[in-house]
Amino acid sequence: MMFSRGWLPGLAACLLSCAPLLTLASSSHKQHCKSIPGTPDWPSPASWRRLNESLAGRLLQPSPPGAVCHPRQPTYDAAECPNLISNWSKLDYHHTNPVSTYWNNWNNDTCLPYQGYPCSGQGYPLFVINATTARDVQLGVQFAKKHNIRLVVKNTGHDFIGRSNAPNSLSIWVHNLKDWKYRGSGFRPKKCKTTLPGTYLTAGSGSQMWDIYTRLDEINQTIVGGGGKTVALGGYLTGGGHSLLSPYYGMAADQVVEIEAVTPSGEIITANSCQNQDLFWAILGGGGSTFAIPTTFTLKTHLTPRLSHLNLFILTPLPNTSSIVFPLQAYLTSQFPSLSSAGLSGYAYLLPPSTNFPLLPNTTASIGGFFMSCVVLQSSFPEDILSLWQPILSHINTSFPLSTYNFTVLTLPTSYPSFLSYFTSHHDTTPAGSNILPGGRLLDAPALTKNLTQVAEAYQKVSSGPGWTGGEEQGGSIIAAHLVSGKAVFEHPNKDRVGVLPAWRKSYLHVVFGEGFVPLNSTSKSEAYQRVLEKDKILKQLAPNTGAYMNEASPIEDQGWQRRLWGENYEKLKRIKRTVDPTDVLWCTPCVGNERWKQVGDRLCRV
Ligand SMILES: Cc1cc2nc3c(=O)[nH]c(=O)nc-3n(C[C@H](O)[C@H](O)[C@H](O)COP(=O)(O)OP(=O)(O)OC[C@H]3O[C@@H](n4cnc5c(N)ncnc54)[C@H](O)[C@@H]3O)c2cc1C
Ligand SMILES: *[C@@H]1O[C@H](CO)[C@@H](O)[C@H](O)[C@H]1NC(C)=O
Ligand SMILES: *[C@@H]1O[C@H](CO)[C@@H](O)[C@H](O)[C@H]1NC(C)=O
Ligand SMILES: *[C@@H]1O[C@H](CO)[C@@H](O)[C@H](O)[C@H]1NC(C)=O
Ligand SMILES: *[C@@H]1O[C@H](CO)[C@@H](O)[C@H](O)[C@H]1NC(C)=O
Ligand SMILES: *[C@@H]1O[C@H](CO)[C@@H](O)[C@H](O)[C@H]1NC(C)=O
Ligand SMILES: *[C@@H]1O[C@H](CO)[C@@H](O)[C@H](O)[C@H]1NC(C)=O
Ligand SMILES: *[C@@H]1O[C@H](CO)[C@@H](O)[C@H](O)[C@H]1NC(C)=O
Ligand SMILES: *[C@@H]1O[C@H](CO)[C@@H](O)[C@H](O)[C@H]1NC(C)=O
Ligand SMILES: *[C@@H]1O[C@H](CO)[C@@H](O)[C@H](O)[C@H]1NC(C)=O
Ligand SMILES: *[C@@H]1O[C@H](CO)[C@@H](O)[C@H](O)[C@H]1NC(C)=O
Ligand SMILES: *[C@@H]1O[C@H](CO)[C@@H](O)[C@H](O)[C@H]1NC(C)=O
Repeated sequence: MMFSRGWLPGLAACLLSCAPLLTLASSSHKQHCKSIPGTPDWPSPASWRRLNESLAGRLLQPSPPGAVCHPRQPTYDAAECPNLISNWSKLDYHHTNPVSTYWNNWNNDTCLPYQGYPCSGQGYPLFVINATTARDVQLGVQFAKKHNIRLVVKNTGHDFIGRSNAPNSLSIWVHNLKDWKYRGSGFRPKKCKTTLPGTYLTAGSGSQMWDIYTRLDEINQTIVGGGGKTVALGGYLTGGGHSLLSPYYGMAADQVVEIEAVTPSGEIITANSCQNQDLFWAILGGGGSTFAIPTTFTLKTHLTPRLSHLNLFILTPLPNTSSIVFPLQAYLTSQFPSLSSAGLSGYAYLLPPSTNFPLLPNTTASIGGFFMSCVVLQSSFPEDILSLWQPILSHINTSFPLSTYNFTVLTLPTSYPSFLSYFTSHHDTTPAGSNILPGGRLLDAPALTKNLTQVAEAYQKVSSGPGWTGGEEQGGSIIAAHLVSGKAVFEHPNKDRVGVLPAWRKSYLHVVFGEGFVPLNSTSKSEAYQRVLEKDKILKQLAPNTGAYMNEASPIEDQGWQRRLWGENYEKLKRIKRTVDPTDVLWCTPCVGNERWKQVGDRLCRV
């Protein structure tokens, strides 16, 4: 693990101890490390040229995007710099660049677009293949394998845990894999004898949510997809993929019926329920850039649903509300199992008491509570969604000391005729471009309902401290609580065909938090890392028998990360990894089977 053992307790200590290791590694143990420029096994310029020719010129050697703001860089461009800065925090920028990542820490803050900061390409890949076909991907895999080069796969670069970027690497940029074929009358997976009924889409692994939603909406269809406009199928489906529609239709991975992929040995293969079943199982939930590089997925599409939507705020404006806010939150989330059974899904946010509450900026009171953007499907009457909440609001009215606080429903329920019409005004708008480390856990019914004192204490502790912004919020940090699981996830008929973390099949709530930190400040970083570890421990005490959603959870933990992220699937996943990738052509962290290597400085070496 990149961040464990030696990194965590003190980055300062590492600066002293890691430098000699790096020298030793590069001078005498070449076979033990992936090659880097200057080592004898690094390909010659002529080899790179030949690779580029075989790719018809699709090999790039990009500068870090932030270099346009640094006068000593060759791509410095004073006019372009302000433009880039204005786009840096936008989700819509980074996925269009071959090497940019959403979170600065995953390029190690090596070229922020601000003057006064250092800028080098050190935290970025050296070469990038702008892949548009499976053949391009295959050429990249074969080249990396032959020359012992560290290989990474970047799609949008959304990744919260840093798997889509690495120093001294060749990157395969799969963003432009955009195949599209709609299959309106069933699909027969290759080598299978029977045709599956229903409607399906074969889409390139670089396809992104907004594009899929809008194109399918033209024929009244949609997919089980994510809440961010630009999230791509590649990272989303390999992680399992949760959705507002999951309680109705299952995890996104459950919808997949066929994958075309390039294996680490460089073959283009098809995986489905009739061939390469193990690989199919491992790719769907086992994680990105580990078992193979999918180029297309064929997945089920659904008739677009009608939705009723409600924004619900329950707030407690008081001089000091912490004694009410956390028990209130604990009570509300204890209702999630029954709300889910009644058809509700949505995104809740647990708001710690703050004197800087955005909706009521000029109050001196401390305000906290609960916000949820929630839906029910196929209901013709928007009021239906209110009737689900009515008994809960009445209970709060009578059981919490009403005289000391008040709560408000801020919007009227709205009805949307299609998923797209809902999504257009309710997609995720999380800003990018900062340094952040996530943490979180799945919560099952016992965790949510058994001991509300413990739940309230856990929420209080997890929302303490500076949080996402690393200090701008006052009084604490917001916890995201996604109600995105339920009946169809628990009972999906395909659940044994995919390697999704088994804890999803019994958990209702996906709780996520984040800790921000100051760029290039190792104290601030190690403090944030420490807070994530402590908060994850509190959530684990609350839900000891679940796990965490790999795409949105902490990548740091010395021991137990395998079980936390993959549960009882881990050993089987690792066996498959050893079979399909015996020499670790694909390597990332935290990823299945990565125990044989570790990152030393900016190099990858055998343990
Ligand atoms: C704003 C926002 C909203 C989100 N909403 C949701 C949500 O509603 N539900 C949900 O489940 N998740 C959600 N996520 C998390 C999202 O699933 C992950 O960030 C995911 O890793 C993104 O995948 P990507 O391919 O877009 O990004 P990348 O960072 O490019 O890739 C992520 C990982 O997948 C690998 N990968 C990607 N494509 C391939 C491929 N073709 N072959 C092999 N490996 C590949 C990469 O190497 C990397 O390891 C959200 C994230 C953000 C930033
Ligand atoms: C690859 O070839 C194309 C077209 O000839 C060229 O524009 C590009 O710069 C080359 N890439 C590298 C890394 O040299
Ligand atoms: C930044 O965004 C604007 C529009 O919002 C766009 O015109 C511009 O080209 C973008 N700049 C970069 C560097 O992507
Ligand atoms: C990558 O390839 C696509 C498709 O051919 C092309 O439109 C795009 O300009 C290329 N991007 C870069 C950075 O070369
Ligand atoms: C989609 O639904 C609308 C409204 O029900 C209908 O008018 C239209 O014909 C449908 N389109 C397709 C392609 O089925
Ligand atoms: C607010 O209430 C909590 C719990 O009752 C208490 O621990 C804390 O000291 C109080 N804060 C202030 C500013 O009164
Ligand atoms: C809050 O106060 C500031 C200055 O005191 C004022 O400019 C602003 O309009 C106020 N905002 C609201 C929502 O009342
Ligand atoms: C809460 O109680 C008050 C009076 O006791 C009543 O007017 C109000 O409608 C109740 N609200 C809810 C949501 O039950
Ligand atoms: C809370 O109640 C007080 C007093 O009854 C009232 O002045 C205030 O506007 C209410 N706040 C909200 C957010 O409803
Ligand atoms: C509930 O949790 C609290 C706080 O962690 C603890 O003190 C108490 O003993 C627990 N109650 C039960 C019945 O387990
Ligand atoms: C680095 O972060 C620490 C902890 O947050 C802070 O105390 C210190 O002032 C920061 N140092 C610099 C140079 O910003
Ligand atoms: C990140 O940068 C620090 C110096 O700021 C350096 O010590 C460390 O090796 C770098 N990490 C990687 C992965 O390049």
